[in-house]
Amino acid sequence: MAYKIAVIPGDGIGKEITDSAVEVLKVADKKFGLGLEFVYHDAGGTAYDKFGTPLPQETIDACKAADGVLFGAVGGDKWDKVEPAKRPEKAILGLRKELGLYANLRPVKVADALIEYSPLKPELVRGADLVIVRELIGGIYFGEKCESEQHNGAERAWDLENYSVPEVERIAKLAFETAKLRRGKVTSVDKSNVLATSRLWRRTVTEVAKAYPEVECNNLYVDNCAMQIAVKPTQFDVIVTGNLFGDILSDEAAVVGGSIGMLPSASIGECTSLYEPIHGSAPDIAGQGIANPIGTILSAAMLLRYSLHEEKAADAIEAAVDTALAEGYRTPDLWKEGFTKVNTSEITKIISERV
Ligand code: IPM
Ligand code: MG
Repeated sequence: MAYKIAVIPGDGIGKEITDSAVEVLKVADKKFGLGLEFVYHDAGGTAYDKFGTPLPQETIDACKAADGVLFGAVGGDKWDKVEPAKRPEKAILGLRKELGLYANLRPVKVADALIEYSPLKPELVRGADLVIVRELIGGIYFGEKCESEQHNGAERAWDLENYSVPEVERIAKLAFETAKLRRGKVTSVDKSNVLATSRLWRRTVTEVAKAYPEVECNNLYVDNCAMQIAVKPTQFDVIVTGNLFGDILSDEAAVVGGSIGMLPSASIGECTSLYEPIHGSAPDIAGQGIANPIGTILSAAMLLRYSLHEEKAADAIEAAVDTALAEGYRTPDLWKEGFTKVNTSEITKIISERV
C-alpha cells in the first residue's frame, strides 16, 4: 500500500526547502521500502497569482485525501497590498481550519553541535529540550474581527478572542499525553491576571490535570514565561498555550535553540496532519539555493513518525541531520570560520547519503 503525501511548496524559499525534504524522503523510501507517493499543490501568494485565491479548493481536497501534508512556507512583501481575506497567510490558516489541525507541536532541542549559535550562554542552553503544544484553530486568530469602523469619532479595529471548555480540554489532554512520554511536566501558559479567556483556560487545564497525577503541572503568565524561556530554558518539558501566545513563544524558543531555520513542527488533527518548518518564506533569499532546509527535513521526519508510524525511517533522517551537523556542514545562515559552507542542494545530498 502506498502512502500519499501532499506537498505544498508555497512561496519564497518554500519550493527549495520542500524539494530538499522530498529528496531526503525518497532516499528513506528506498531504504525502508515505505511506498511514498507525492502530489504537488499550490497555496499562498503563488496560488493567488495563478487562481485569484490563496487556497484553491483542489488543494484542500488533495490534503484531505492524503496520508500527510508537507508544507513549505507562505507570504512575501509582494502580496502586502492584497485584501486581508486573500493574503497568502490565509492559505495556512485556512488549511489548519479545514483539516481541523487543533494542535501544533513545536519541539525545541538544542543540538550540542549548535550550542554556540544560541544567543544565550552555553551553560544555560545545554540540555534544553522542550516542546510547545500550541492550540491552532481557535483563540484570537479565528475570532470575529473588524478591519475598520468608526467609534466615538475615531477609526478603530478589533479582534475577538474566545475559547470554549472543549477546545481547551482537547489541547490540554494532548499536552498531558505528550508529557507522559517525555519528562512528565506540563507548564500551562496564559494571562489569567487580565483575560477572561485565560481564566477559563487555567481552570480547564487544572481540571484535566487531575486525570494525570503522574504529570507535574504548573501555570505561568505569558510575560513571565517569555522571560523564563530566556533565563532558564531547561526548566521546561511541555508548554501548552493558546494560539497567539504559542505563536510568539515558539519563535522565542526557536532562537534559543540556535536557529529558526532548524525547527520542525507537526500540526495534528483528527484525520490528515500537516508538517511544516516554523520559519517563514524568506523572500529575500528565495531562489538563490542557499536556504537552510533542515527545519523542513525534520518536519518530514515528524510526518513519517506521527502520520505513517514509520519510526525507523524517521529516526534515520534525524540521525542523518545530527551527523551532518556534527561533521561540520553548515548552510550560510549558520556558517562560521572553521566549518564547511554548503548550499541547499549540497546539505540535502549530504543528509541523504547519511540516511
Ligand atoms: C506560524 C506563522 C503563522 C502563524 C502565520 C504565517 C500566519 O507565524 O506558523 O507560526 O501566525 O501561525
Ligand atoms: Mg509564527
